[in-house]
Amino acid sequence: MSDHSESNLPQKVSIFEVGARDGLQNEADEIPTEIKIALIDKLAGAGLREIEATSFVSPKWVPQMADNAAVMAGIDRKPGVHYPVLTPNKRGFDDALAAGADTVCVFTAASEAFSQKNTNCTIAESLTRIEPIAEAAKAHNIRVRGYISCVLGCPYEGDIDPARVADVAASLDAMGCYEISLGDTVGYGTPLKTRTMIEAVSARVPITRLAAHFHDTYGQALANLLAVLEMGVSVIDSSVGGLGGCPYAKGAKGNVATEDVLYMLNGMGVETGVGLDAVVDTAWWIFGTLGRRPNSRVAQALGGKRKAA
Ligand code: HMG
Ligand code: MG
Repeated sequence: MSDHSESNLPQKVSIFEVGARDGLQNEADEIPTEIKIALIDKLAGAGLREIEATSFVSPKWVPQMADNAAVMAGIDRKPGVHYPVLTPNKRGFDDALAAGADTVCVFTAASEAFSQKNTNCTIAESLTRIEPIAEAAKAHNIRVRGYISCVLGCPYEGDIDPARVADVAASLDAMGCYEISLGDTVGYGTPLKTRTMIEAVSARVPITRLAAHFHDTYGQALANLLAVLEMGVSVIDSSVGGLGGCPYAKGAKGNVATEDVLYMLNGMGVETGVGLDAVVDTAWWIFGTLGRRPNSRVAQALGGKRKAA
């Protein structure tokens, strides 16, 4: 392992695995619930400690997540592992609570146009919908994580002012989100632009509570991640095999692949507690069930033998 004592990199990075939600939500064909459950259990077996499991959104909007309660009931919950779920409104929160969720993820955007496409409301209205979730979560001791989409550009509006991202982040922070995940939904970011955005947001919300949620459409995600790791961001959202896209952002590719992130972090001596081989095996397995090869370079490079086996 390399020594990073003279660099600004964090010693440890926490990986927030989003493949079972952000990844699978985008698949057109219905995926059997048992496959989703097996995926989540394999990810926990690989050492991941934050595994986003499903979403309690309208099944009219995202039919793939309609089996949310069955997924939550079927997973083999491991001690020390959180299984966050996405909730757009109080109804989603109530259903998530009934399904035994310990963490909910609320979501809004830094782009008005994207907010309309994704949740049929303005940014301000989405924040108003989040308020009762945050209040109920406090009463039930449930962690609330905030997501902001389009922090580095929007497929409908183009450039996004970092000050707008910072304003939305401050609103989520004021509502009590323990962490705010900054989504480059379409992967437009490049390293210097990404740094500028993080500088603006971290002036309002401590950088230790920011997470990087970068999609890899333009192949920039790892470069952007390195740029923000050097600034002190130490939580990375990623998806096994690079699963995913976004149903309301045409052309968006999957999140940065968990195994690509692990390979980079391992190479720099940054601890994650996650096993690279187990994640690569899981990537080949889930993509096998989908009839495709994993999207990630690392799974392709390390997985040839597994595939042939
Ligand atoms: P709406 O159509 O404006 O509102 O949807 P509505 O209240 O009229 O609801 C429509 C129907 O859904 C109604 O049913 C409701 O009862 C039902 P009907 O009366 O027609 O039979 N409904 C629900 N059903 C189950 N669970 C619920 C729920 N709420 C309403 N919680 C709404 C508004 C917010 C509900 C809708 O727009 C929605 O569900 N949007 C979610 C879209 C989504 O999941 N997008 C992907 C996730 S975000 C993402 O991927 C980005 C992220 O990864 C970060 C990044 O990369 O940028 C997080
Ligand atoms: Mg996403």
